Amino acid sequence: MRVFLRAPAKINLGLEILGRRADGYHEIRTILATVSLYDHLLGEAAADTHVNVDRQDLEGEQNLVSVAARLLAADHPQATARFELRKTIPAAAGLGGASSDAAAALIALNRLHTLGLSNTELEDYGARLGSDVPFFIRGGYALASGRGEQLEHFSPPTPINAVIVTPRIAIQAKTKALYESLRQNDFSDGARVEGSAKSYLWLGDERLLVNAFERPLYDLAPSLSDLKPLMRRLGARTVALSGAGPSHYSLEHDDERARALAMRLRESIGLGADVYVCDLIPEGVTFMESVKQP
Ligand code: C5P
Repeated sequence: MRVFLRAPAKINLGLEILGRRADGYHEIRTILATVSLYDHLLGEAAADTHVNVDRQDLEGEQNLVSVAARLLAADHPQATARFELRKTIPAAAGLGGASSDAAAALIALNRLHTLGLSNTELEDYGARLGSDVPFFIRGGYALASGRGEQLEHFSPPTPINAVIVTPRIAIQAKTKALYESLRQNDFSDGARVEGSAKSYLWLGDERLLVNAFERPLYDLAPSLSDLKPLMRRLGARTVALSGAGPSHYSLEHDDERARALAMRLRESIGLGADVYVCDLIPEGVTFMESVKQP
């Protein structure tokens, strides 16, 4: 048996950090939304787990697909598979690509070996792999609390385009480094994100798309602080930072406007960044209709 899944990226529609916790993690409030930018995972039951990635630098035991398979196999020794991972979501970009791939691996193994795990059980395994992983099991639109693994799902907002700009800049151990460089006044009480989640207030007020990582990110990589003003000059409506960056996005309400903005961004930034035009989508990892032969 073979399965073929698509694993979407996410953006954060606001991210507040409340403070450091006793376990070393940080208490956060963020709105997560899946977008139509996908990695693809092909899985086939096999005697041992092996993961092929079409990007050599992402291959190896530390790839979250491998880690997910090892985690599940500790409880379900039969849960092994040969995986082909085809990457489109840029890595370490604030778009949750590796977390989505890990969620896809859990869902694939559950199906391939008819383990019968519920979404809640898959989310529990996901939380042991990374704070963002549980969200991708159901995806859509959710308020995330705790370290990001406690989810309250709402129906996704009306059709919205996200024009995502991912600068080609690598920051070593970015998420951990940014969490560690937070200062007292980067922390807030989470009220803006909590208050805007259910009624989509961020749609009308860009200030609700706050992101506590902005200050430390721009300190670490000062050139990134030019991106928001550039996007605005080129006609972006609502601009915000996703996760720990470096991806920024603009929310647009019209396909044509979104594509025209993306064109201007590509012309202006050239090879300095990748630009994607996406929709917010109502689901997380999903099975594809047909299995394409590799
Ligand atoms: O959960 P995940 O493995 O993605 O987190 C990577 C690192 O980011 C953690 O080791 C931790 O240092 C930091 N982190 C945090 N608070 C969170 C999520 C992550 O401090 N809510």
